[in-house]
Amino acid sequence: MYSDKVMDHFMNPRNVGEIENPDGVGEVGNAKCGDIMKIYIKVENNRIVDVKFKTFGCGSAIASSSMATELIKGKTLEEAWELTNVAVAEALDGLPPAKMHCSVLAEQAIHKAINDYRIKNGLEPWEDRFTD
Ligand code: FES
Ligand code: FES
Repeated sequence: MYSDKVMDHFMNPRNVGEIENPDGVGEVGNAKCGDIMKIYIKVENNRIVDVKFKTFGCGSAIASSSMATELIKGKTLEEAWELTNVAVAEALDGLPPAKMHCSVLAEQAIHKAINDYRIKNGLEPWEDRFTD
């Protein structure tokens, strides 16, 4: 049911934890299942130099957070914003259909963290393609 990559990122998640004095934080809850994901980012020169997450949720949500943080580390805010939940799921070699919403949490949490950073720096927040 789950790919080796999903199992790997679930059993050995990357970038777990919190960042002290983060430049942006994004927290989202999933209405479907009640799971919660929080993403912290450190930004220098418009680039995500560090990222950590805390996820209270299912294995797919943990694997999605782990993969998504790996994918945005070192990227510009614009590049990180473009990361879709489908791209996260593809990087994990797929998620079962009933678990696709878990990857949506990762995209939304990253967007919230980026917008938190933008608002704190007096910039307009970007528009998320999902509404919550
Ligand atoms: Fe999220 Fe079961 S629905 S852990
Ligand atoms: Fe809800 Fe995975 S079952 S985030």
